[in-house]
Amino acid sequence: MRIAMVGTGYVGLVSGACFSEFGTDVVCIDKDADKIARLERGEIPIFEPGLDILVANNRAAGRLSFTTDLAGAVAEADAVFIAVGTPTGRTGGEADLTYVYEAAREVAGFLKGYTVVVNKSTVPVGTGREVQRIIAEVNPDAEFEVASNPEFLREGAAINDFMRPDRVIIGAESERSQEVMQALYRPLYLIETPILFTTLETAELTKYAGNAFLATKITFINEIADLCEKVGANVHDVARGIGLDGRIGRKFLHAGPGYGGSCFPKDTVALVHTAQKVGSPMRIVETVADINDRRKKAMAGRVIEACGGSVEGKTIAVLGLTFKPNTDDMRDAPSLEIVPALQAAGATVRAFDPEGMAQAEPLLSNVAWAQNAYEAMTGADAVVIVTEWNEFRALDLERVKAALKAPVMIDLRNIYNPQEMIDAGFDYSSVGRPV
Ligand code: UGA
Repeated sequence: MRIAMVGTGYVGLVSGACFSEFGTDVVCIDKDADKIARLERGEIPIFEPGLDILVANNRAAGRLSFTTDLAGAVAEADAVFIAVGTPTGRTGGEADLTYVYEAAREVAGFLKGYTVVVNKSTVPVGTGREVQRIIAEVNPDAEFEVASNPEFLREGAAINDFMRPDRVIIGAESERSQEVMQALYRPLYLIETPILFTTLETAELTKYAGNAFLATKITFINEIADLCEKVGANVHDVARGIGLDGRIGRKFLHAGPGYGGSCFPKDTVALVHTAQKVGSPMRIVETVADINDRRKKAMAGRVIEACGGSVEGKTIAVLGLTFKPNTDDMRDAPSLEIVPALQAAGATVRAFDPEGMAQAEPLLSNVAWAQNAYEAMTGADAVVIVTEWNEFRALDLERVKAALKAPVMIDLRNIYNPQEMIDAGFDYSSVGRPV
């Protein structure tokens, strides 16, 4: 079996490396010659724990390679994966499928022998059919079928999510295409992973429905957290209390500053758009997206309140900028709302993030960049924890107090115990938990 992986972005690179680890020969293709050259030198353009080792091992074993030569890679492949970007379109809402269709058109001309063309990018319902149409139009002689194989990888945990998934969804409509896909995922059959075969449309919608449901779960617990603050309840215990009901489940009930990242914000909006277009509006998801946007904007208000109603002329230390830990990804991160709002209210922001500073610098202006958490806090009037990196969970609290001008901590990720923080002498506030 041979795979051609078109696109060496996050999904393409992780999937390509993982399929080669499964024992399949994988060629990853990108138009960006510089990127391919860097990958060939062993440089990994994204931060994903374990990916560098996986890539190095499989390259050494001769199962994984990188090229700009689409024609050669596609001709030899049993399966061509399209894993190119689908940014939110310029009009907002609908996913921009330009790159997907362009890839389909280019791939079409080089297909040789029976090939399954697999959509790995997150694409709206109907895209698979359109890819099928495009390929048949460009190359009427091509012997191919289209499949949809959405990914469910979390940044920072992507390799484990690929190797040991809860399930695999494959939209593949013929026995022959199913057999090819089964062969690629063979190691997962050995560990009894549920692998669901569906139609193209069902696979495409399953991806969006999954992300929208998780975004809804987070938004639900965030609203419960706000309610907890009003009635004196503890959101941590409420989440545990409801989460132990197997029908609800414990995961993704962690209250915080609102979800970010490259998936939930984009995919909820895209689902809303699709649903509106076909006259079956998803009012729950519309509301979730709206509440989450407002939540991120409202977070600076909490900091201002904790600072006695004003941050004018004050210095605020911000710990964590990425949308979540173990990634350098800044896309739709809550920090992108919080930092400018604090600056607009007259504060000086001093920030530190373990991996995201290079990505954050072009997106945030007038920030004093610190080398570490303690430097960010030195002389600051308050510290805000925006992303729950492990190193922020284990701060030396005496050192924190000594560094800060006033021991004010706003913990937007609930990583500290309120009572312990009060006992340690902090003016501590968190999300949805009484002090
Ligand atoms: C998400 C999904 O979890 C993956 O299954 C999916 O494959 C991926 O999108 C995608 O579509 O490609 P990801 O965006 O990497 O993965 O990150 P998550 O771990 O899901 O976190 C998303 C956001 O939700 C983060 O901002 C995180 O801080 C927030 N979150 C998550 C909470 O606020 N509370 C929680 O309980 C969980």
